Amino acid sequence: MKNKAWGGRFKAAQTKAFLEYGASIGFDKKLAEYDIMQNVAHATALHKARILTPTELKKIVSGLKKVAAEVRAGKFKFRTEDEDIHMNIERRLTEIIGPLAGKVHTGRSRNDQVATDVRLYTRENAIAIAGFIAGLRRAFVAQAEKNVDAVMPSYTHMQQAQPIRVAHWFMAYHEMFRRDEERFHLAAHGANVMPLGSGALAGVNYPIDRRVTANLLGFGAISANSLDAVSDRDFAVEFLTAVALLFAHLSRFAEDVIIYSSSEFGCVDLPDEYCTGSSIMPQKKNPDLLELFRGKTGRVNGNLISLLTIIKGLPLAYNKDLQEDKIGLFDSCEQALAALPLATDFVKKMKFRTKLLEGRVKNGFLTAVDLADYLALRGMPFREAHHVVGAIVRECEEKGMTFADMTLKHLQAHSPLFKKDVFDYLDPTKSPDRKKTFGSTAKKEILEQIHAAKHELDK
Ligand code: ARG
Repeated sequence: MKNKAWGGRFKAAQTKAFLEYGASIGFDKKLAEYDIMQNVAHATALHKARILTPTELKKIVSGLKKVAAEVRAGKFKFRTEDEDIHMNIERRLTEIIGPLAGKVHTGRSRNDQVATDVRLYTRENAIAIAGFIAGLRRAFVAQAEKNVDAVMPSYTHMQQAQPIRVAHWFMAYHEMFRRDEERFHLAAHGANVMPLGSGALAGVNYPIDRRVTANLLGFGAISANSLDAVSDRDFAVEFLTAVALLFAHLSRFAEDVIIYSSSEFGCVDLPDEYCTGSSIMPQKKNPDLLELFRGKTGRVNGNLISLLTIIKGLPLAYNKDLQEDKIGLFDSCEQALAALPLATDFVKKMKFRTKLLEGRVKNGFLTAVDLADYLALRGMPFREAHHVVGAIVRECEEKGMTFADMTLKHLQAHSPLFKKDVFDYLDPTKSPDRKKTFGSTAKKEILEQIHAAKHELDK
C-alpha cells in the first residue's frame, strides 16, 4: 500500500522492513499531548487566516479533544504503519472527523511540527526537573542545619586536609545543585522559541500570524530564520548538558558517600531503604542507589555526546538523522526525573556519625595550617613556619604520635615562639571558626549560607 502522506510520487511501495526501521512511533509517542496541543493552536491560526471556516475549526478541535482523551486513557492505538506520532494523530483524527482532518496540515511541515513538539517537551520537563532539584536542595540545607556543630576531616588528594563543619560539606553539594537548578531554567528558556510557521524550511505560502500560535502555546519568542529553525537542536544539547552536569554532581555525591560509608572510613550510616544485601555474604550492605547514580552518569553523558555527534556535519536543513535526537533526550529526561526524588529522600535519611568524627579529627595533623599560622601571626615568615610545622609532623610520624600527643616542650624544641596558648590552635574543633573569609567553614559563614539558601528556596 502506498503512503498516504507522501505516496503520490512513488510507483512501488517501500519494503516493510525499511518502513519499520524508519518508524519513530516507538519512542515519539511520548510527544502525543504536545502534538495535539500544537494541532489545536495551528488550526486556530489557520482559522484566523481564513483558511478554515468556524465550523471546520470547531469540528477539528472537538475531534482533537477526543484523540487527547484516548491518549490520556491509554486507549489510543499507535500504529507502526503510520510512521510517527504526527501521522498517527492525523490518522486517528481522520477516522473521527473524516477528510477534513487533512486540512490541519495546511501551511505546515512535519519539520517545523516535530521541532515544535520537542521544544514543548523540553521546556515543560526542564521546569519540572528544576522543581525537583529545589526539593533536593532543601534536603541538603536541612542536613546542614542539623549538623552545623559537627566537625569532620576534609580531603585533598584523598589525604586529610583541614577540619571543616559537616554542614560545610552538605552546603557544598547544595551549591552544585543550586547551579543545576539555574541551568534547567536556562534550558527551558533556550527551548522557549517557536519554530512553527517555518514549514519545511522556507516558510509557508499562507498569511499565518505566528504570534497567534506562539501565544496559544506559551512561547516566549518566535524563530527568526526558518532554515535554522527546522534543523536547530541546540536547545536539546543545552538540556542534555544540564542533565549531564546534574548527574556529574549526583555521581560525586554518590562517590563521597560510598567512601564515607565504607568499613575503612565508617563515618556515614546509609539508610537501609536504599541499600541491598548480598546473596552470599551475609554482612553486606551495598550502596546500590549511589552506585546507580554513578553508573547512570555514563549513560546520560552518552546521550549528550550522541546528540552532539548527530548534529555535527549535518547539512542544512532537516535531515532524517534528526529523528534520533529524541531517544537520548527522552532517556536523559526520564533518568533525571527518576533520580531526583530518590536522591532527595536518601539525603534526608543519611546520617553522619558525628561522635566518631569528633574523635577522628583529633587524631592526625588536620590543624597543621593553624599551627603554621600561629607562628606567622607571631612574626615568622609563613614559608619558614610551614617548614617548622612540616618538621614537627615528620617527628610525630617517626615517633608514632599525632598533634594530640604534643607537649609544649616538644613544640618549643622546634621554635621558641610556641607558648601555652598554642594548644588552642591545635584543637581541631576550634579550627573552623578561625576562618575569617566569606564562604568559609566558620559557623557564622555557614549560618549565613543556610539563611541565604532558605530565603532563596522560599521565594
Ligand atoms: N519523525 C520525524 C522526526 O522525528 C518527523 C519529521 C519528519 N520529516 C521528514 N521530512 N521526514 O524527525
